[in-house]
This record gives sequence, structure tokens and C-alpha cells, in this order.
Amino acid sequence: EEDERTKRIEAALEILGDDVVVLGHNYQRREIVEHADFVGDSYGLSREAAAADAEYVIFGGVTFMAESADIITDDDQTVILPSMEASCPMAGMAEALQVDAAWAEITAAAPDAEIVPITYMNSYADLKAFCASQGGLVCTSSNAHEAFEWALERGDKVLFLPDKHLGENTAHRLGMADETVAWDPWDPEGKDDDEVAEKDLILWNGYCQVHERFSEAHVERVRKEHPDANVVVHPECRREVVEAADVVGSTATIRETVANAAPGETWAIGTEIHLAEHLQRWHPEVEVVPLCGDACMDCNAMRQIDPNYLAWVLEELVAGRERNVIEVAPEEKELAELALERMLEL
Ligand code: 13P
Ligand code: SF4
Repeated sequence: EEDERTKRIEAALEILGDDVVVLGHNYQRREIVEHADFVGDSYGLSREAAAADAEYVIFGGVTFMAESADIITDDDQTVILPSMEASCPMAGMAEALQVDAAWAEITAAAPDAEIVPITYMNSYADLKAFCASQGGLVCTSSNAHEAFEWALERGDKVLFLPDKHLGENTAHRLGMADETVAWDPWDPEGKDDDEVAEKDLILWNGYCQVHERFSEAHVERVRKEHPDANVVVHPECRREVVEAADVVGSTATIRETVANAAPGETWAIGTEIHLAEHLQRWHPEVEVVPLCGDACMDCNAMRQIDPNYLAWVLEELVAGRERNVIEVAPEEKELAELALERMLEL
């Protein structure tokens, strides 16, 4: 069945030729990754989308990535997401309406401060547009520290959303661990106006449900079972997990780390399970161990991109039908693009 589907995908790609480019995130399944022209992290994918000149960009990833690709490609290019169900739960943890209300409260708590909002790439286009409208920008896990520095050169405080763990890990990296205050929009007790007035980094209380499940106990167990293991984790992991690891970085950094490992080294991978599986396949000379052990850390949003859907959207294009087009509303596009461009210029 897989062979049959692979043949269908290859045949459709052959007919579509240069009209189509397939981009895939590092967390996509093997059956998607093997058909992609470029496989990378969120930052690399946004650069590839900006450089793409194909008429159709087929995105193996989640909605916020496809939206960003639509924003950053030309108006005559079309972005297609093989499944409309592939939505990152973290992106849904900071809705623009909710952030509007919070912004009024936060700016009232610190009336004399210039606050610059930064949103993680893992957010919807309307929130990216909001950040640009208030002088802010977008960042990914590979440039969050540079985005924070950029913002702090232009203002007194940063509001970072939605990922509290990336926010905290970035604060540590910048030596600003004492400068953070949590903002929990779901908890009336979770907001302290005095602290907001005092601290420089206000961190929204969102998180990735995949990375939050990694614990210090996982690191301890892997070090016990593999005494020579090195541990690399994603900065969406909790602070204590990052502290217990040897290397921290975006999915591109995780890939580079394993690619540069000496033969025979053991690397434990603290991120979504598919990337650990790809790394073992791509680098058989390195021993790759998932940090989660048997407890599989699988992102259900990324998993929605089933190879059967990839075959379907491609065959529909061959038949002249555009399916699952991702189109950002025109009124959000310009500002969201500004927020992304500020990041690409960092
Ligand atoms: P990066 O590939 O930018 O590290 O992002 C990780 C992620 O969770 C994407 O959803
Ligand atoms: Fe969202 Fe986490 Fe899945 Fe990335 S791994 S798409 S942040 S839920």
C-alpha cells in the first residue's frame, strides 16, 4: 500500500514539475519528509518559502507555518496544507482577541513603559499583525534571544507569547532570569500588576503539550541507562530539562548536533519523536535514543499530515483543482508580513 501511494505521489510530482515545491517540517513523518524538496526548522522553512518561485507551495507542517508561507510568498503563489486539521494547540493558546484584552490590562499596569510584543512563530497571523502594529515582531526558537535584544533596544519591556518555556529559557540565556513575570490570561490571580510594572519580561502562560511532558526524570533515566549519552533538547522544554541537558536548540540545531557527532557517540533527543527517528535513519553511525524512552512524544497536529492527503492534494492539482488552500485575510497580511520581515532581518 505504501509503495502504491509513493508511486502516486511521485507520478503527480513528476507531472507538476517546477509548478510545485514541497516543504516539510522536521517533525513530519518519514513518508512526507522523503517527498519534500526542503526539510527544516520553522526559521529555515520561512526562508525557503520566501525564496520559492513555484506557483504552488505544498506545506508539510501545521496551519501557522502555512499561513506564514502565504504571507511571505508572492500574491500569485498558492499555499496548500494537505490537512486542514493540522493546527498547533500552542498557537491556539494566544488568540488575538484575548491578547487585545490582556494588552489593555498590561499597558495600564505599566503606563510609563514602552512595551514591545514578540510572538513566537507558533501563533496565528492576526497575532503576528497585532505585534507589528505595536512595534513588535515574530521570532522562532533559533532567534528568540536576538528578537528579545532587538525589542529591548527599542522599548523598556517585552511581552512574549505564547510559549512560557521558550520565554524563560531565553531570559536565562540573556542573563535576565530575575526579570520575568508570568501573565496567565486564564487565572484572575495569575496577574500581578506591581510585578508587571517592575519586571522587564512578561511571559504569557502558553506551552507546547509535546515538549512540556519531558521531565528531569527522563534525563536522569537516560543518563543512567546510557552513561556516555549526550542530551540535546528543544527550548520549548521546561527550564529544569534544559538545565539538565548538554545542548539546547531549535530542530535545525538538534539536526546539526547529531550530524556533527563522532561515530559511536550516543545522543538522547528531547523533542518530537519523528525527528529522533529521522536522525537515527540519517546517521546510523550515531546511537540516537529518544529522551522519552518508551513514552512516545508524538505531536498530533504534525501527525495530521497523512501521506494519503499529500497524494490527494497533488492529484487534485494535476486535475486542475486547488484543495486546502491557506489564505491569510488581506487586512492582516501586510502587518503580519512586517512582523515576519523584522525577524528575517535580525
Ligand atoms: P523549530 O523547528 O523552529 O525548532 O520549531 C519547533 C516546533 O515546535 C514547531 O512546531
Ligand atoms: Fe505545536 Fe508543539 Fe506540535 Fe510544535 S510540537 S506543532 S509547538 S504542539
